Amino acid sequence: MWEDYVKKYEAITVKSKELYKRALKVIPGGVSHNIRFFPPYPFYTVKARGSKIWDVDGNVYTDYWMGHMALILGHSPEPVVRCIREHIENGFHFGTVNPYALELAEAIQRNLPSAEMVRLGCSGTEATMYAVRLARAYTGKRIVVKAEGGWHGGNPILHKAVSAPYDKPDSLGILEDEQRFTRTMPVNDVEGSGLILRECRNDLACVIVEPVVGSGCIPLDRDYLLFLREQCDRYNAVLIFDEVITGFRLGISSAQGFYRVKPDITTLGKVIGGGFPIGAIAGCSEILKLADLTSGRKWEKCWIGGGTFSCNPMSSIAGLATIEFLEENANQVYSKINKLGDEARRGIDKALNGLKGLNAKTTGVGSLLLTHFLKEEGDIKSPRDRLKTDLEIQRNFYIALITHGVFFLPGHAGAISYTHTEEDIRRLIEAVEKIAEGI
Ligand SMILES: Cc1ncc(COP(=O)(O)O)c(C=O)c1O
Repeated sequence: MWEDYVKKYEAITVKSKELYKRALKVIPGGVSHNIRFFPPYPFYTVKARGSKIWDVDGNVYTDYWMGHMALILGHSPEPVVRCIREHIENGFHFGTVNPYALELAEAIQRNLPSAEMVRLGCSGTEATMYAVRLARAYTGKRIVVKAEGGWHGGNPILHKAVSAPYDKPDSLGILEDEQRFTRTMPVNDVEGSGLILRECRNDLACVIVEPVVGSGCIPLDRDYLLFLREQCDRYNAVLIFDEVITGFRLGISSAQGFYRVKPDITTLGKVIGGGFPIGAIAGCSEILKLADLTSGRKWEKCWIGGGTFSCNPMSSIAGLATIEFLEENANQVYSKINKLGDEARRGIDKALNGLKGLNAKTTGVGSLLLTHFLKEEGDIKSPRDRLKTDLEIQRNFYIALITHGVFFLPGHAGAISYTHTEEDIRRLIEAVEKIAEGI
């Protein structure tokens, strides 16, 4: 039955197949972002609007990938398009300071509980790399503890134990020495994490975690986050929340407001760029001020930032328009997307469960969701639990959904935007029911 869906996918995506063949001749693996590939080949997008995305073959899908979960207001939302239109004739890259980036930094500062100061950059990868550097500079210590399964971008210090098996290197070309001071811990596991943190305590610079782990779309328990807060305080280490996914998505005050746990440093990206490239580091001013190179000697400071396109006006304007819309409509936006998220998670699990021993479980929180197929009884509380799931069924399930006009990037968390409707969610659940009928 799954093969029929793959055949159907190939039948409706003929032009994409051709493009992918061409891509293989010029781009290794045909993709420039590894996760954008899914077998047999990804479809090629030509247009997107609201909750919909069109491919080169003319198929239209309801999009739950939403630009790597960045597009909280949907594709090309009117308030963002209007601001970009107004400004684009005035230059789209200045390479100088500009009021828009300042206003974006202020918008982050007034909404994020721990953001006393903010630095803007071009990507989440950059933000996490510099967050670790700041933590080491501030504490004078070396060890970074990250989650098994945690993804913080590809920088060598943090590109460790990203995908299973966690005891094998994630990439050639990263030196063991570069990860000499990187340790990993099992998340949502107070005992297991406590042991590692205790072992590292004398040289522990920071702990970095995603409050909702992107790999598996797994929300961390509030008690676990409180435990990390307490451990960092006890060992004089910096607590970094990587909120590249959750920033301005779990609520206007992000995951730290949602969980009521304050990190020392937060890394941001995705939503705060309004659909344009961005990254940011926010946090405690005592730490961030180390990055002030306008005074003092370089060896007493922490050099972060740079980037030709950092603080570019387009990202700043789009991000600012997005955050201002979210501020003005916070109750409406978050209650809507979170409710649709609840309905989708519930509806999908209801449609799938009881089927030939399939133990389907849709994880996530708020507007984030991902469906897993457990091979045994149990729950998914950490990325390691994904080893208990059937990843092939999961991938096939999502390809089947694509043939029903519903796009989640197979195997990756999906995100609901403000433009999704009750009708979209009803269609998603109906598509799952149809797939379930054939299982
Ligand atoms: C939690 C998290 N941190 C960091 C990154 C890297 O951000 P970027 O892709 O903007 O470099 C990502 C990207 O998906 C992410 O999900």
